[in-house]
Amino acid sequence: MSNTMRVIAVSKSKQDLRTFDYPAPAITKDNQVRIRTLDVGICGTDREICTYAYGEPPEGSDYLVLGHESLGEVIEVGADVKNLKVGDLVVPSVRRPCTEAHCKPCQADRQDYCSTAQYQERGIMSLDGYMAEYYVEEEKFLNLVPAELRDVAVLTEPLTIAEKGLQQVWQVQKRLPWACTELSKRPGHGLKAVVLGAGPIGILGTMALIVQGFETYVYSRSKAPNPKAELVESLGAKYISALEVTPEQLAEQIGNIDLIYEAVGTAELAFSVLPVLGVNGVFVFTGIPPEGEKVELLGSNLMRNLVLKNQAVIGTVNADKASFENAIADLGEFKCRWPKQLEAIITGRHTPDAYKELLQGKNTGIKNVIQFAK
Ligand code: BGC
Repeated sequence: MSNTMRVIAVSKSKQDLRTFDYPAPAITKDNQVRIRTLDVGICGTDREICTYAYGEPPEGSDYLVLGHESLGEVIEVGADVKNLKVGDLVVPSVRRPCTEAHCKPCQADRQDYCSTAQYQERGIMSLDGYMAEYYVEEEKFLNLVPAELRDVAVLTEPLTIAEKGLQQVWQVQKRLPWACTELSKRPGHGLKAVVLGAGPIGILGTMALIVQGFETYVYSRSKAPNPKAELVESLGAKYISALEVTPEQLAEQIGNIDLIYEAVGTAELAFSVLPVLGVNGVFVFTGIPPEGEKVELLGSNLMRNLVLKNQAVIGTVNADKASFENAIADLGEFKCRWPKQLEAIITGRHTPDAYKELLQGKNTGIKNVIQFAK
């Protein structure tokens, strides 16, 4: 192994995106693992960081190494590492806890609910990410992936968003005493869900909802036919274009909408659909739009609905260990049910040389992946 490695890094203060040769990292603690990066996915957050609007470099540095959707291979383990060995495939989590003793979520390993906003996120907030040939991480932040998922495991992290969202939906719906959500493997059976957006988070969310038994609709802007519409229809969901069908018509067509899973990232579309959420329904927001978008709302109608229909609106960010484990298990399930469609989410595999076009050029395809090693 050479002593240096190539990394892709961005500087907000210098408005610059470039590659560097950094020293290759070494294990410094017994609980650490050294990993060779295989695949790194690119998402809207990476692209936003590359507009210099979001993200922070580590303290003392101008540059942040990008990348938080990663798959790697273990190449060395520290003396205290118990459950990983050389050759294992791993997906690392993103967020690291703050150090405030009074932050109960972080103290309880639930930094996804950090209450101080002092958390760090690899590749996003104050910690270098995974767009590097190698990285070192503590075992507890790594999730073991079965070798059969090698080709699709880079989709784990985006799927964790749906997993954590659904986990919360079922916690909220425990309020419905007849729902028995804990007992059922298909808790969505007999219920109707609408996914907003047909990007990677929307498509992976659609798969998770169908596996849970929901009758699932995908509501997105582009008119059908288009490749994303074909993909979601081939899963068994129904694709409906927001350019052709209004939210009111959508609700008429579907009946009571039990769940709306927002994965579109724009406030306008999301809030246009909130008024048609059904009785006892839950609306889950996952997108992080750029600040400043104004939306007109009929506030009193929304408020009446929320109250008279017992609705819940929740936002969800980041994911805990259980959501990573559920995502890995679900990827296995998706691969059995829909091997071609799962592969089709990854529309491009590129060498690291393509980083500028991928991060700052036109947004194309569904999920683009940078392949650091095979
Ligand atoms: C990542 C999350 C992260 C969030 C906010 C998302 O793109 O998937 O892990 O918490 O951005 O920075």
